[in-house]
Amino acid sequence: MFKRILVTAALPYANGLLHLGHCAGAYLPSDIYVRYQRLKKRAVLFICGSDEHGVAITVTAEKEKITPQAVVDRYHPQNKSAFEKFGMSFDNYSRTTLPIHHKTAQDFFAEFHQRGILKEKEEQQLYCETDKMFLADRYVEGTCPNCKYTQARGDQCENCGTWLNQTELIDPNCKICGNTPVVKSTKHWYFPLGDFQKRLEAYIAERSKRDGWKENVLRYCQSWFKEGLQDRAVTRDLSWGVKLPIKGYDSKVMYVWFDAVLGYISSTKEWAERSGSPDKWKEYWQSPETKYVAFIGKDNVVFHCIVFPAMLMGWNDGGKSQYVLPENVPANEFLNFEGQKFSKSRGWGIDLQDFLKFFPADMLRYALAINLPESRDSDFYLKDFQARVNNELADILGNFVNRTLAFTEKNFAGKVPEQGELGKLDKEMLAALKQTPAAVGKLYEHYRFRDGVIEAMNLARAANKYFNDSEPWKSIKSNPEQCATTLNVCLQTCRALAILLEPVVPTIAGNIWKILNIAPHLRDAEWESAGEPMLKAGHALGKPEILVAKIEDKQIDDMVRFLEGGGQPKGNSKPMITIDDFKKLDLRVGRVVQAERVPKSEKLLKIQVDLGTETRQVVAGIAKHYEPEKLIGRSIVVVANLQPAKLMGQESHGMLLAANGDQGELSVVTLLEDVPLGSVVR
Ligand code: 2FM
Ligand code: ZN
Repeated sequence: MFKRILVTAALPYANGLLHLGHCAGAYLPSDIYVRYQRLKKRAVLFICGSDEHGVAITVTAEKEKITPQAVVDRYHPQNKSAFEKFGMSFDNYSRTTLPIHHKTAQDFFAEFHQRGILKEKEEQQLYCETDKMFLADRYVEGTCPNCKYTQARGDQCENCGTWLNQTELIDPNCKICGNTPVVKSTKHWYFPLGDFQKRLEAYIAERSKRDGWKENVLRYCQSWFKEGLQDRAVTRDLSWGVKLPIKGYDSKVMYVWFDAVLGYISSTKEWAERSGSPDKWKEYWQSPETKYVAFIGKDNVVFHCIVFPAMLMGWNDGGKSQYVLPENVPANEFLNFEGQKFSKSRGWGIDLQDFLKFFPADMLRYALAINLPESRDSDFYLKDFQARVNNELADILGNFVNRTLAFTEKNFAGKVPEQGELGKLDKEMLAALKQTPAAVGKLYEHYRFRDGVIEAMNLARAANKYFNDSEPWKSIKSNPEQCATTLNVCLQTCRALAILLEPVVPTIAGNIWKILNIAPHLRDAEWESAGEPMLKAGHALGKPEILVAKIEDKQIDDMVRFLEGGGQPKGNSKPMITIDDFKKLDLRVGRVVQAERVPKSEKLLKIQVDLGTETRQVVAGIAKHYEPEKLIGRSIVVVANLQPAKLMGQESHGMLLAANGDQGELSVVTLLEDVPLGSVVR
């Protein structure tokens, strides 16, 4: 029925770093789906980008006293690169601050405005008398009228997902000054969602029947419909965002969600331009032959199942061109970290880019995939992560591939042995091989990624059992022909696993191909072909290698220490101290008069510091970063009342201050101006 598949993953705000919760919500599932579809040789396009507007970003900018542009310029590249390291295979990763996006959003707005779909209304909004501004969206917080969560924002409650009109908030307070806002009227443009309710209900009923929408998603939609859809303001009194394409509204911009969902379209336009056929985006967006699947986390349901389809219907009614509506919106629930909700403000959780400094992406992808919050919230525990990797990826998959290759190398000169007459066990194994691609594929088609991965791993489980039961170490002597058959079947299964597990663990899959010594252009990795014994007898294999190294306890401990603040402190990673606590430190200015390496130590320098009244010897772990001569003459800061210690046999009477970057960079704190030696630092 469909010729092409368009897949979008929610555009993350360029307002902070991606964490594991994001990965489990929308990103890993969408990437598994896309990689699977590519192996099915279907035309698929995978679109994402940074959401760079909205009050989340302006609040950060104000807090840091920088521009909103500087905020998004900081986070966009970091998130883009974390996604790359995680193995996300987007065809395009755009940003909503690009002109192509502003133009796209303005076209929609202008179309709705011209056709009289948008209505201007004067309504009550919250206004802060202190800050002299209307408090759009996250500029105001209060208690959610639905679930009574006390930190609900002006447009949405983070806790229960309810989309709010800000005047519904109980006990609202201004996020900037904390004062209670007043109610004041202002004019805004409203999108008449209510007018679309009947059609939206029919649309969801039809699509959910056709493509099987998830229960949780349907439940959210139904509760919206039950309440009755209302007109929603799609403009805001702000300066950061997409300007309105109509005269006389210079002090307003579009509501971030109005432009964000259109970001999928503009990112596709950017892709088309880049690929040299600027109109190609229409093949995906404006053809009834496209299957469009929008992957999101549960907090985005209303915008993707109701607001975005209504906007597309509104456009389509104009008759200029016809956009496809999502065929499905497979939203996941939330992932918790060590039993608690991920929270940026509380510093709880772990950023994707940090996690990937400790462990390869595929380990994380596997552990998340097996534990996706598909129908209810799930938990990520580091101990579970370690166990999954060690007991499953390493012991089942890695071990099977490794023992197969090692045995073949030793007994068949590293070449694929000939398949002989098939015994019962061989037939069973080949039958399992044959049926697995369709079985896993069916689960993936229905967005059941967790079960799909389990099913694919079951093939590796069955293969280990087959190896054991066939006892090739005995048959090599008693019946070499049968042994050859066993190993042939095992090698065919290795190839199958390289295909079937590619969507989840693409790097490991690539390494299996490498161990099988099949170059990328010869891989012939069509999904269904995984079920066929396609490796030719006589093919020379590569060297057996450890496919998955086990995670040692120490590696987990290192990461825990990092999370506890040993690495980059996140938020308040150490308990608050009083000024009196701080005053206990005797910090003094000193000048380095002599510096030399400590014999037999790579790390330590022995430094003599003139503190005005005395010269102290301080031993510091900075030898990898500084040549001793470079320090001489520098004014530095010393903790003068630190208890003396002995390091590598050298007395140290104090400590110098230095900044530690999380990549191992180090910089000694020095003074900009001269002050008398011994001056107190406070
Ligand atoms: O929740 C979020 O992070 C939003 N920035 C998602 C936007 S999805 C799409 F509409 F752009
Ligand atoms: Zn709520």
